[in-house]
Amino acid sequence: FLAQTVAAQPKAAVTGAYPQLRLRRNRTHDWTRRLVAETRLGVNDLIWPVFLRDERCAEAEIPSMPGVRRLTLAELPDAVGRAAELGIPAVALFPYVEEERKTATCEEAVDPDNLVCRAVRKVKAEVPGIGVICDVALDPFNALGHDGLVHDGRVLNDQSIEILCRQAVVQADAGCDLVAPSDMMDGRIGEIRRSLDLAGHEDVAICAYAAKYASAYYGPFREAIGSGGALKGDKKTYQMSPANSDEALREVALDLDEGADMVMIKPGMPYLDIIRRVKETFAVPTLAYQVSGEYAMIRGAGLQGWIDGDLAMMEALLGFKRAGADGIFTYFAVAAAEKLRAG
Ligand code: PBG
Repeated sequence: FLAQTVAAQPKAAVTGAYPQLRLRRNRTHDWTRRLVAETRLGVNDLIWPVFLRDERCAEAEIPSMPGVRRLTLAELPDAVGRAAELGIPAVALFPYVEEERKTATCEEAVDPDNLVCRAVRKVKAEVPGIGVICDVALDPFNALGHDGLVHDGRVLNDQSIEILCRQAVVQADAGCDLVAPSDMMDGRIGEIRRSLDLAGHEDVAICAYAAKYASAYYGPFREAIGSGGALKGDKKTYQMSPANSDEALREVALDLDEGADMVMIKPGMPYLDIIRRVKETFAVPTLAYQVSGEYAMIRGAGLQGWIDGDLAMMEALLGFKRAGADGIFTYFAVAAAEKLRAG
C-alpha cells in the first residue's frame, strides 16, 4: 500500500498546489536544525543544589530522589570541585538538620558553626572559583517545619524577618556569595539588604525567591532536609497560590524595589508562564528552580523505562531557557553539564 501511495502522482502535482513554504526544510539535516536553534542551554545556566549531612547523622540516600545523595563535609570538596571543573557557576547548600537541633526559636539557624556555615567555609577554602549560595529560611532548623517563627499557629512576619536577617549575616560572614531568601515574608529583602550592608557585606548579592508558590512539588526536598515530618499544616499563608500570576509581578516588583539583584520563580515546569511574564516585564536576571518533585518525576519515570530520562532532562532544562530563564537551579546540574560537555 505504501509503495503504491509513494509511486502515485500526488494530487498537488496536478493542481499545482504544493506548499510553497515548507517549515520541514529547516528540519531536514542535523546541521540546519543546529543552525536555526533559537535557544541554547549551556553549562553557565546551571546552579547545583547540594544537600549536606553530618557524618554521624542521616543516611546519604534520599529515597524520593534517586541519584541524589546528602554529602558530608568530607565529600563536599571533591563533588563541588567536579562541578566547578565542568563549569557550573554556583552551588546552593541545604542542610539536613537532626531532630535534636530543631527548636521553635530556630537558634541553630544563626549559629556560625552550623552545618551550612561550615560547608560554606570549606567550599570557599577548597573550591574558591565556584559561587556559593545559601537559602535564607528557617525550615531546616524549625521544630515546626515552617520558614518563619510560629506563634499560636500563625507564622509571624516581622519577628521572623529579624532572625532571617541574622541568618543571612551569619552566612555572609562564613563567606557565602549570594543569599537566597526563600521564606516569602513581606519586606524581608529590604531588611536583609540593610543588615548585610551594616555588617560590611555590601558585595554579597541577594537572589529573592520572589514568586514562590505553595506547591506539592517540594515533597522530596522536605524529606531530603528532614523537615517534612516536622511541618504542621501547609505554607499557604505565605507562599503564593498556584492560581495567581499578576500577584507574581507584584512580588517581583517589591523585591526589586527592596534591592534584590536577581529574582527566582519556583517551582519550574508548571510555572513557565510566570518566568516569561517576569522576564518580559522587568528584564532583570531571572532564575528558575526545577524543584525536587520535578526531579523525582523525570528521574523516577526514566528509571522505570517509561520515558528516556536523559532526553526528558535536557528537554525540560531547555524549556526553562525558552521561557526566558537566565539560570536554573537543578538537581540535574552535574548530569546535564556532563551531557553538554560530551556534545
Ligand atoms: C525552604 C525551601 C524549600 C525549597 C527550597 N527552599 C521547600 C519549601 O518551601 O517547603 C524547595 C526546593 C525543592 O523542592 O527542590 N524554604
